[in-house]
Amino acid sequence: MAKPFYVTTPIYYVNARPHLGHAYTTIVADVITRFHTMRPAEVHFLTGTDEHGDKVVRAAKKENLSPRAYVDKISQLFRDLWPELNISNNYFIRTTDAAHMEIVSQILQKIYDAGDIYFSEYEGQYCFGCERFYTERELIDGKCPDHETVPETIKESNYFFKMSRYQDWLIDHIKQHPGFIRPERYRNEVLAFLREPLEDLCISRPKSRLKWGITLPFDENYVTYVWFDALLNYITALGFPDGELFHKFWPVAQHIVAKDILKPHGIYWPIMLKAAGIPIYQHLNVHGYWNIEQSKMSKSLDNVVEPLQLKNIYGLDAFRFFLIREMNFGLDSSFGESALVQRINSDLANDLGNLFSRIISMAHKYFKGRVPEVDPQAEQELGLDLQSGALKTIKEFESFMGSFEFHRALMAVWEFIRQMNKTIDVTAPWVLAKKKSSRKQLEAVIYHLLEGLRIISGLIYPVMPDTAKNMQKRLGLKPDDSFYHLDHLKTWKAIAPGTALLKSVALFPRIEIGEKAPDSAPQTQEEPAVLNIKPEITLDEFSRIDLRVATVVHAEQIPKAKKLLKLEVDMGQKRTLVAGIAEKYSPEDLIGKQVIIVANLKPAKLMGVISNGMVIAAVDDSGPTLATLEKLVAPGTPLK
Ligand code: ME8
Repeated sequence: MAKPFYVTTPIYYVNARPHLGHAYTTIVADVITRFHTMRPAEVHFLTGTDEHGDKVVRAAKKENLSPRAYVDKISQLFRDLWPELNISNNYFIRTTDAAHMEIVSQILQKIYDAGDIYFSEYEGQYCFGCERFYTERELIDGKCPDHETVPETIKESNYFFKMSRYQDWLIDHIKQHPGFIRPERYRNEVLAFLREPLEDLCISRPKSRLKWGITLPFDENYVTYVWFDALLNYITALGFPDGELFHKFWPVAQHIVAKDILKPHGIYWPIMLKAAGIPIYQHLNVHGYWNIEQSKMSKSLDNVVEPLQLKNIYGLDAFRFFLIREMNFGLDSSFGESALVQRINSDLANDLGNLFSRIISMAHKYFKGRVPEVDPQAEQELGLDLQSGALKTIKEFESFMGSFEFHRALMAVWEFIRQMNKTIDVTAPWVLAKKKSSRKQLEAVIYHLLEGLRIISGLIYPVMPDTAKNMQKRLGLKPDDSFYHLDHLKTWKAIAPGTALLKSVALFPRIEIGEKAPDSAPQTQEEPAVLNIKPEITLDEFSRIDLRVATVVHAEQIPKAKKLLKLEVDMGQKRTLVAGIAEKYSPEDLIGKQVIIVANLKPAKLMGVISNGMVIAAVDDSGPTLATLEKLVAPGTPLK
């Protein structure tokens, strides 16, 4: 086993529901954790919720709930979301856990006894959104740079942590450990900040103002909350100071955060650890922000992206792939559904999906669905270079994953997918299949292509675990963790000849809304198109789909979405739907028309409109054609 691996996400505030940003960081942590299981290494992946502080008390009040009832409710939303996104965390910590609170108290006492915490009066500019004081030079036009609100002037006596004492030590530590904060731009940002004298950190609130925190062990009239409470979760969750997990995983700790909390993680946290005599974490990995169509995602702008909705519309692996492929870790990215659809159609349906179904279909057609034998001489004559291509890809993949350049790791895999497609075009198996004398060559080509698929399925595993398993199953391989191990992937010819393959499926059906995807990968004329019938379902499963007749009563174009129409339909009751049919139908064409809708599809938000159902249409190269009935029937009539 390789060196163990420990990764954490921030523990998220429970003052709001989970959104795209939370999903991104947690999916990144999941991807890197799964990658480390491929080394293979023993891994520990921690996430959780940050539940103390003014923000939470105010949010609870708004909902007329006690802080306890409120935090239980929102924390549960996070805990329910992660399995839906295939997050493989080993533990979920809450800062309201008794064990956490007890250890925070012990560490505070230790730092207090060492003389690094003192009592003093302070007046400053306090942002309630960030739950911290701001210095004048940190404000932009007198406003908090994050919340764009004017902070309140607050004067009170509090406890302070002597951070200034450790400033020189921290500068040295960062300089001596080049990868400590990465990417480089954030390391430089922290070093630039440390060029100015560091102010001491206010770590308490009087109970007269805030009770929802952890009582200071040395003054029961005060609580600590947020940073002194939250940052310590990374070690309390491991059972600090004596837990076995702490001894095993703390020496290899890596944190993942976005740039918003660089300062607490890059400055407060290492200093807290130093003051408490605890070894410093290994790496802080900092990513940029997802913006929504160029602006910040925020509740007030009503542009918060709900991860579950996207997963429900586009499928989990496609959603995970998009986030990891689209963002250059460290830089900001702009989120848009049309970009998501474009990636699904081009990278997934076209490149990966097509390659997979082409190869499996050929194996069925030429070898009755069995993995062929390989004749060494035929192999040599053909000069196939997929093995060396695969090894090169695995090497690049490992290196990019190790340096948190996930989008480049995926680009390397897609380069190999291109090489595979080229191999099919150059060797033209359908030509080889025509002559008996080239049977051995045909066997060799198909065998190598199947091996290539095995490598691809292994390399996409961290990002798209379900698709990897589906590919593996269809390649006749037994579900087994060792299948993903890098050593196994580096071994060429691991699939046994004679293995039975399952039928081909469309791994990623094309999505017909949003922007136009690039043209399909060149299909050779002789190769018949793949029908891509979805997996069988039972009558019982089919009967769960509620199809109804509905009459369109109103239709309008959705601004900025050239394919989408907003429809109001009557199916015995009124409903609003979004339909991707605008390129074929104008709103006037539709009024009074009877259409067929899926009435019990989970509601989904498309371009800001909640769609309660889906209109059925046949879709071909000319676009959608609505399914209609032979004659008019009563709105709401079911289809059986
Ligand atoms: O800061 N783009 O919690 P939080 C990308 N409780 N990532 C984003 C994002 C965006 N637009 N918005 C949020 C807190 N995130 C503290 C942390 S840790 C000891 C205490 C992600 O709920 C990103 O990981 O505000 C960011 O750092 C985190 O959510 C902030 O979560």
